[in-house]
Amino acid sequence: MALKKLVVGNWKMHGTSADLAEVNAISLTAGTSTCDVALCLPATLIERAVRAAPGFAIGGQDCHAADKGAHTGDLSAAMLADAGAMLTIVGHSERREAHGETDAVIRAKAEAALLAGLSVILCIGESLDMREAGQAIAVVSAQVDASLPHGEAAAGGVPQRLAIAYEPIWAIGTGKVPSTADIAEMHAALRQRLVAAYGDAGRQARILYGGSVKGSNAAEIFAVADVDGALVGGASLKAADFLPIVAAAA
Ligand code: PGA
Repeated sequence: MALKKLVVGNWKMHGTSADLAEVNAISLTAGTSTCDVALCLPATLIERAVRAAPGFAIGGQDCHAADKGAHTGDLSAAMLADAGAMLTIVGHSERREAHGETDAVIRAKAEAALLAGLSVILCIGESLDMREAGQAIAVVSAQVDASLPHGEAAAGGVPQRLAIAYEPIWAIGTGKVPSTADIAEMHAALRQRLVAAYGDAGRQARILYGGSVKGSNAAEIFAVADVDGALVGGASLKAADFLPIVAAAA
């Protein structure tokens, strides 16, 4: 049976209090949708967005793996939850690249977030060089194997709180999208990795596609087998751009 679709907006380093009206507009329509919808906002907006849109899923974009400590500028998963977040992204390629995050670091973050009660969107994806060298499936499979949460965090029901987001780095913010055949091939490989890691429960974890998703291409992408939703950057900042994507998933 197909999983309920999940459409998540990733605002990255965009948004101040003036943009809370967009959060509100998105949450009102999302509340009537048959798919799940969430917005991952800059941490400074989380608490205000939760107040502005009660019951709507607001998330963070990263968390530290530790509960607390001497980590200037970082936020723990418990802090995100305390601010009202229900989920967080971990392992986005912009953090892997700009902050040198490894699969091991990302796995620790995912485990910390799950233990704090958050849902997790775990990102993986290949560079253009890797895709052109014919290594995309191997590289992304290795990333996911090394970054999936295990241990205490993965005991009982976790795959429902875990989604993975396949985001080819060359498709992020570029307007380029892989062919539906390439997306289908990758998502089938990722489903296999989830089942290898969690057994049958791995069929319950949603696999999102991310990278230049727009209202004009969303329906075609959502029709691909094992595409259970989308992680959306640029087109999530305005309700007018984001809601057509939500409508395509519903
Ligand atoms: P984009 O970003 O939709 O702007 O390509 C997606 C992402 O980075 O999550």
